[in-house]
Amino acid sequence: MNGDEMVTVYIMGKKHRVPANLTIMKAMEYAGYQLRRGAGCRGGFCGACSTIYRMRGSFRLQVALACQKMVEDGMIITQLPFIPSEKKRYRLEKLKPDAGVFLEYFPEIARCLSCNTCTKACPQDLMVMDYVQAALRGDIKTAAELSFDCLSCGLCAVRCPAEIVPYHIGQLARRLYSRYIVGPSEQVQNRVMEIEKGRYDEEIQRLKSLDINMLREIYSRRE
Ligand code: SF4
Ligand code: SF4
Ligand code: FES
Repeated sequence: MNGDEMVTVYIMGKKHRVPANLTIMKAMEYAGYQLRRGAGCRGGFCGACSTIYRMRGSFRLQVALACQKMVEDGMIITQLPFIPSEKKRYRLEKLKPDAGVFLEYFPEIARCLSCNTCTKACPQDLMVMDYVQAALRGDIKTAAELSFDCLSCGLCAVRCPAEIVPYHIGQLARRLYSRYIVGPSEQVQNRVMEIEKGRYDEEIQRLKSLDINMLREIYSRRE
């Protein structure tokens, strides 16, 4: 692809010509959109930029992360600035690490149809259905390991016909795994100790004393 090649995309229903070597996110900005929601890390880590698109002539709805997916000619794009889902509240220290806990907080997992639609939607290529099924069996280790790279982008939940929100289930599995199976990480404990001893206090005070332009410069120079 040469750098001058342009493609036609439809963003929120409006036609735009944009360079072919841009991601959906950059193409939206090129077309004049200012992203105040639906953009975070811009590097495929935070899951904020969930996007639905169709190709012209195809009925199939496809999903992607806008900061990772390159534009293609004929893409019809809409962004999902947030995924509506209910967040369950629980006290981790009061839970029992077994299958019952998943059924108590997420009884809808018993409705899983094993259709694998969630897995096909996942931009991280996670075995989403398998981790939901592992949670249903009470296999916390497998559910935690299979969901480890989940970004909470929500695209699996949007596509699930059984109205299951897989990323909340994976998150609970990882929390239970960490607390009850592997125990606290030594690195995290060491870091908490350093914070409590004030190791970063001076640096935080220095940052708090800087003006906004200097903070922006430091931010844009970060690795
Ligand atoms: S499991 Fe779901 S929420 Fe997590 S990255 Fe995959 S699609 Fe996104
Ligand atoms: S999309 Fe929903 S019903 Fe289908 S396998 Fe995934 S969690 Fe189960
Ligand atoms: S902006 Fe963070 S994953 Fe796309």
